[in-house]
Amino acid sequence: MSFMLRKSMDATTIHQPRVDPASIVAVASGKGGVGKTFMSITLASAFAKAGKRTLLVDGDLGLANIDVQLGIAPETDLAAVIAGWVELDDAVTPVDGGASEGGFDVLPGRSGSGALAELPQEEVARLAAGISALSLQYDQVVLDLGAGIETNCMRLARAADKAVMVITDEPTSMTDGYAFIKVLRGYAPKVEPVIAINQADSRPAGQRTHEAIARACETFLGFRPRLAGIVMRDEKVRDAIRRQQTLISTDPHAQPIQDALAIAQGLIGSPSGIPLNG
Ligand SMILES: Nc1ncnc2c1ncn2[C@@H]1O[C@H](COP(=O)(O)OP(=O)(O)O)[C@@H](O)[C@H]1O
Ligand SMILES: [Mg+2]
Repeated sequence: MSFMLRKSMDATTIHQPRVDPASIVAVASGKGGVGKTFMSITLASAFAKAGKRTLLVDGDLGLANIDVQLGIAPETDLAAVIAGWVELDDAVTPVDGGASEGGFDVLPGRSGSGALAELPQEEVARLAAGISALSLQYDQVVLDLGAGIETNCMRLARAADKAVMVITDEPTSMTDGYAFIKVLRGYAPKVEPVIAINQADSRPAGQRTHEAIARACETFLGFRPRLAGIVMRDEKVRDAIRRQQTLISTDPHAQPIQDALAIAQGLIGSPSGIPLNG
């Protein structure tokens, strides 16, 4: 079985070959349930709105839920790729017209298909290599990682340029986030961790949470991860997920979306605002 890309591609995936690989942003946390998938989807939508050809990858293989939050039912997914039934580029599913029409592409996972942690290391390495090869066709790749700090998670994270650490003010989120950063520094020192505080009750509270993580990293790891941004807590996020709609499409002016757009802008170094409509 191989994750090599086929030479011929269908209409939805045929793109100009690129010289530069995409910038790959992993979205990680250590702890589950903090908002990684919400952040991954919102960042991917924001990059697409900024005119970037964007691929969103569900790296939470066994508990995948990008498809659930997007309200899509993909015909095929990464579980089928790993089982050797389809090639990686066949599993690319267009959202909102796909990357070639102003939306973005998704590589969905499949819930209940077996966790990433259980995959043999060669398969994870092949998957990471396949994602890197596929990234040549995109400007931006967002990799939604599962919870946990096990080696296979790090193997996928190693494909990234940056790791956006989604952290809330819960002590377990902070300790798990710190643990992830620590393991990542040892395993993939070239991946830059940056901090995104999510579900903040206030901006000062979010800043305090960042300061606590940054200080721990400074003291014990010898570097200070910068703050990518603070996303406020808002029930609209939960309500949108319940309805299987994305908040960025139904209420683009909602505060958590504005906050996530600012993070997206910082990640692509865009000086101008990301247009919300169109
Ligand atoms: N900014 C936010 N404000 C309010 N609730 C949020 C916010 N971000 C995430 N949530 C809640 O957290 C839950 C988990 O989010 P999700 O993106 O699935 O997390 P993860 O991928 O880290 O497991 C969501 O169902 C939602 O209810
Ligand atoms: Mg998730």
